Amino acid sequence: MGISHRHQVIVVGAGLSGLRAALEAKKEGLDVAVLSRVQPVRSHSIAAQGGINASLANAEGGHDDNWEKHAFDTVKGSDYLADQDAVEIMTKEAPGIVYEMEHWGCPFSRTKEGLIAQRPFGGAAFPRTCYASDITGHALLHTMYERSVKENIKVYEEYLLLSIVKDANACVGIVALEVATGELVTIEADAVIMATGGYGRIYNKSTNALINTGSGMAAVYMTAGVPLKDLEFVQFHPTSLYGTNILITEGARGEGGYLYNCKGERFMKTYAAKAMELAPRDIVARSIQTEINEGRGYDNEYVLLDLRHLGREKIMERLPGIRDICIHFAGIDPIDSPIPIQPGQHYSMGGIDTDPKGATSLPGLYAAGEVACVSVHGGNRLGGNSLLDTIVFGKLSGRFASEYVKTKKKSGQGQALSLHLQKIKDNIHRLENSTGKEKPTDVRNQLKETMTENAGIFRQKSKLQTGLAKVKELKERYKNIHISNKGKKFNLDLVRNLELEGKLELAEVIVAGALNREESRGSHFRTDFPERNDEKWLKHTIASFVNGAVKIDHKPVTITQFKPQARTY
Ligand code: FUM
Repeated sequence: MGISHRHQVIVVGAGLSGLRAALEAKKEGLDVAVLSRVQPVRSHSIAAQGGINASLANAEGGHDDNWEKHAFDTVKGSDYLADQDAVEIMTKEAPGIVYEMEHWGCPFSRTKEGLIAQRPFGGAAFPRTCYASDITGHALLHTMYERSVKENIKVYEEYLLLSIVKDANACVGIVALEVATGELVTIEADAVIMATGGYGRIYNKSTNALINTGSGMAAVYMTAGVPLKDLEFVQFHPTSLYGTNILITEGARGEGGYLYNCKGERFMKTYAAKAMELAPRDIVARSIQTEINEGRGYDNEYVLLDLRHLGREKIMERLPGIRDICIHFAGIDPIDSPIPIQPGQHYSMGGIDTDPKGATSLPGLYAAGEVACVSVHGGNRLGGNSLLDTIVFGKLSGRFASEYVKTKKKSGQGQALSLHLQKIKDNIHRLENSTGKEKPTDVRNQLKETMTENAGIFRQKSKLQTGLAKVKELKERYKNIHISNKGKKFNLDLVRNLELEGKLELAEVIVAGALNREESRGSHFRTDFPERNDEKWLKHTIASFVNGAVKIDHKPVTITQFKPQARTY
């Protein structure tokens, strides 16, 4: 009955957080393996461009930096929704993490003195973003992957996670689909670490890879009984390339790029007079969208990011990847022409509710990186804190999951796994034999449209209500979809339709959370409640899957040293 494997720890996801978690479990002496939707270096961490934050104090103008200043900027950037104990851990760990990656071989760019170079990024008081030209994620992921090869970490490549399995009150493994063969596989494990990244592809304008469907997050929400936290906080990156929404790094503004509207004005002076283009992302994205909405964009769609004054040499040295992207995907060379950009969905501040050890409410189930919400980003993540989060909390979740495994009493797990496997087989059989008339592409496309239209940068009650009703309608229609490809090998029709169910559930959580939160904070901007309201809403949203629908509760935010203040830049 299906193929089965066993490991002490199984990590789901092979990006930076997943590989770092696996390396830590291996260091702890455990039998660990990684299961991934793609070959590890195709994971979405590869797409991160601008850098990773750490208070190294290497850059000119940054010598007074320290972890507390990094923590303050992160908390202020989060609009005070981040849990400050977790932020303190992340910012204290940051320099050590960066040096470790350097020692493992990451080719960081250098200062004249040979130190790791740091550039300014949005919302940061000092140039604190360490970078490898404009391919920092690429450089880090290849370094981490090489390390995992050196340490003989086993990887199950091209598998789709379908379910978390629990027995009594502990996580005992997973069920996954091997995409190459179409076989279902059970992996029994004493601990499971989720590191599957975000869900960007439920929006139609996203910087995310096609694999970012949120399937891991949805599997935990729907099958593990573990809640999601703060999912209404969706980050829109200010500068995605108009037309394809490929990321144009914040590093372009960090290096001195300007934003212009169609009147030739550097409009950020209206919205963030001091920080200008280097205000945090939520503010810059809203400012660009306001310019476009009020008729000061181009074709009611985009504004311009101008790098020409930086000069050929600087662009070639610091932003060569951006130049390539512009040449290949927009037919323009940023050395000579400004870049047409618009905001695009980029990141999920919310995710699986974990503590700073990566532990969820289900013993044995851990999560790290974008799929998790620790929460270090609160209502708005600062650029450069994502790569940091992946490695810091990847490492910690690997460590604490290993500690759990070493002390755990073993229980009989086989039966829970085979029962689950049967349920999944039945579901796939139903999908394959459905005579329903709904086309999955219609459901998928309408979902993306409704999310962008009704749960985007600016939100209001009536639109969110429309969005919620539409998502519920699409959930009903999903029950009547049919799939055309009945083959077993590389059946991407089946894969996409299995993922679609989870996308619909995540969409419901986002929209319901956004409707419920009657205030504006970070990336969540309600035009009908334009102010932050700490008295009522300085709390996390906790969303649970109950009888096929979302149930919303709340939990308090941890405040240590930074009392909430007005957020100006
Ligand atoms: O703009 C960027 O390079 C993206 C960085 C990030 O999301 O942290």
